Formats: sequence, structure tokens, C-alpha cells
Amino acid sequence: MQNPWAGLTKPGGNEEAHEVLGEKRGNYEVAQAQSAEDDVRVYSGNRRFRPAVCAMADSLASAHVGRCREFDHSTAGSDHRTTGRFRRRTGRVPGRGDHRRGLGAGVQRKELRRMSCCAERRGSEPNLGVARETRIGRLFNGVFDPLDGSVSVNRGGGLLQQRAINLPGCHLKGEAVPAEATFVSLRNSPPLFGAGLIEAIPEATIVANASLNGGRPNRVFNPDTGTTELGRFGWKAQVATLHQFAGDAYLNELGITNPSFPHENLPKGEPIPSGCDTVADPEDDGSGVTAFTNFMRFLAPAPRRPVTVQVQQGEQVFSQIGCASCHVPTMTTGPNSVAALSNKPVNLFSDLLLHDIGTGDGIEQGEATGSEFRTAPLWGLSRRDRFMHDGGSNTIEKAILRHGGEAQNARDRFGGLSPADHDALLAFLDSL
Ligand code: HEC
Repeated sequence: MQNPWAGLTKPGGNEEAHEVLGEKRGNYEVAQAQSAEDDVRVYSGNRRFRPAVCAMADSLASAHVGRCREFDHSTAGSDHRTTGRFRRRTGRVPGRGDHRRGLGAGVQRKELRRMSCCAERRGSEPNLGVARETRIGRLFNGVFDPLDGSVSVNRGGGLLQQRAINLPGCHLKGEAVPAEATFVSLRNSPPLFGAGLIEAIPEATIVANASLNGGRPNRVFNPDTGTTELGRFGWKAQVATLHQFAGDAYLNELGITNPSFPHENLPKGEPIPSGCDTVADPEDDGSGVTAFTNFMRFLAPAPRRPVTVQVQQGEQVFSQIGCASCHVPTMTTGPNSVAALSNKPVNLFSDLLLHDIGTGDGIEQGEATGSEFRTAPLWGLSRRDRFMHDGGSNTIEKAILRHGGEAQNARDRFGGLSPADHDALLAFLDSL
């Protein structure tokens, strides 16, 4: 079958991102140096430029931890109980030497450096969302095949681990795009700030958006519960909870098996050579995954920039031309045992539903088809410089111009705006 997404794909394109993240900024040491104790100091710091651990992750996989400035990272606020849990549970950041604790064969040395990627800068500001990963797949007898052995051959699964660990007695090569893969898609790492608030939005609130704008929820298997649940996280809303997200990232990005994801991801689908996997499964007893879950859960959203008159005008334009029908400005969390997450407005600018806006990449995840993506939340937009699932747009305007399909009308109205309204809309987006 012909690949309908051919031409949109860029095989092997994330090398460059690795270099930017790892080599140039040299944050690796920072990540290594951090310990739980550092975290306590970091999160409780009250200086204007507050160094702090930050995390972001690609939907299914990557976990990037490093230093960030400026944001208050904890949603916990004055709730001391929660603040304590945030500090205690954040744990340490994996670093060099962790292979002895089971950091897996499918993990990439430079991957460790990527974990420290958060502080790329635009001007004097921190930037979020900078690493890109490669997802692969194909159609096999009409069925989506992630090349993990579930449909046909096992080539190491739908996420490429492009670099491998080299240890005394263990020499592995990173995975390359296998010949069978006809879909090759880059995935930009979205920031995780505010993730706990997104998790706390009631399912009914999200599903209600569908009847208003024609989007549809993803339904995904959650290994923690053994059931199919509403997907919220990831470019295709393919992950239900932050705990699932963390466990998946531990396995697929770091190569650490854990109770939620107990089976090693085989490099290229082949058995792990002896000497490369010396720790019994599960390599993490679950405590690391839980710590990382709570770390993500209590990251506060990025603060808004100043709301000028022009920004206010732009927000009106945003609604008038139909952007807000998918990029729903605010949803509210339900009652939650954590006060900081309970009945709180979440200004995420997303319905968390799937839409076909003509940017499909062929990859199916949960019930999301190859053509669909989750409406990308727009909060924190001003801190990033690569947009859309593949990071293929380097300005916000170019990202808007790529909207078609269900968003064609909104995109056309954007194209027809007066210069003043056009500038106001962009000023608004740059205030998020
Ligand atoms: C039909 C639903 C829909 C409408 C209407 C819509 N969008 Fe989107 N938007 C999406 C989806 C889905 C994505 C993610 C697509 C992808 O990554 O391939 C997205 C992504 C974006 C992004 C990139 C965000 C990021 O993190 O990379 C921006 C910016 C954006 N939209 C702005 C707008 C603006 C401005 C309008 C109005 C002109 C608009 N959108 C209308 C669904 C919509």
C-alpha cells in the first residue's frame, strides 16, 4: 500500500537535536550532580532565579531532566503536606553509572545527556520542548504494525533507540530505521509543566468537548489498571496517567524495567547479548517510577507573560476565528485530595481530543489513527522554538499555516486577518 504520508517524514533526523542538547550545553554534569537533597534545596529556594530540576517528556518515552530557571515548579504552593511529598518523591535523576542499577541495553549514552535538556534558551529565557525522537511503523495486511513482534516481525518496536550503551563486555549498536518501516515520524518533546493539573481534569469534562467540536477522545490500555482509559498525554493522547507515562519512559527511554512495564525492549528485536543486562527484572521496584510521577504531577504551569491590550485583542481574535473550539482555553480540575490540584482552573488551551488537521504521520497509538493528533496545549508556547508534533515549524505562524483538515476554516480565517488582528493574535500566543 502506498504511504499517504510520504514526503512528510525525515528519517533519522533527530541526531542534530541530540547534539544540541547534549554536547553544546553540557548540562549532563548538572543532572548527574543532583540528588534528592539537592532537590529539596532547589524546590524550596526562594530566589528570583531559582535553579530547579525540570522535566519534560515525549508522550511515550523521553524523560528530560535538568536545570531550569525562573519558574516556580511546584503547584503545591503553601500546602506544606504536598510540598513535602513533592520534595521527597522527586528522587534523584538517573546519571552515569546507572547501568549498574539496570539502565538498559536499549538506552543510549547520549540519552542520559538528553535528560538534562530543559534549559535551552531563546534570548535570556528558558526554552521548553527541544528533543526529538523517531517513531516508526508500517501497514501490514491493512493493520498498523509497530514492528514489535505483535503483528509481524520484531525490529525493536515503534520507538527508535538510536544509541546504545557500551560497557566492558557489552557492545551494542543503536537502532536504525529498519527496511520494513514505511512510516517514520519525528516527535518533539512537549514540556510537562502543569501535567498534574491536566491529569486532574474529570473525564466527563474532556468528553463533553467532543460533542461541541467534533473531536474524539483516545482510549488507551493502561497496564497499571489493566483496563482501557481516556488518553490525555502525548501527541496522540496515547497515555492515560502520569504513572503510566513515567513507567513507559523508564522502559522505553531509559531501558529500566519496572512493575508497570516489566519486559525489556529488545534492541532491534534481537535477544540482549550477555553482559549487557546484568540486573534482574524489574530493575526499578516501582519507587523510581512513583517518584518521577510525583515530580511531574507537581510541576506548576509556566506563568503567563504580561497581558497587554494587544494581547487581549488577540485572545478575542483567537476565539472569533475558531481556534478556541479545539484549543479550549480553560478546563477545571475536579475535587482532589491534593489541595493544589483540587477545583483549579487549567488554562491549557486544548480540548485534549483527537483531530485530523492534515498533519498525519501514519503512526497509530491507542485508538488514534495515522491522521490524528491531540490538540496541542498552547500554554508555555512562548518558551519554545519548535512547534507541531515533529518540531517541523520554527515559528508559531508557520505552525498555524500547517493547519488543514478539520482546522481548515480557522486557518483560512487566520490568512484573511487584517494586519492589526494578525499581529494581535500572534502577540496573544506569545503571551502564553
Ligand atoms: C480542529 C482543531 C484545531 C483547530 C480549529 C486549531 N487547531 Fe491548532 N492544533 C490542533 C492540533 C491537532 C495540533 C497538533 C498538530 C500536530 O502536531 O501535528 C495543533 C497545534 C497547534 C500549534 C502548535 C503547538 C505546539 O505545541 O507545537 C499552534 C501554535 C496552534 N495549533 C495554533 C492554532 C491557532 C492559532 C488556531 C486558529 C487559527 C488553531 N490552532 C486552530 C488542532 C486545532
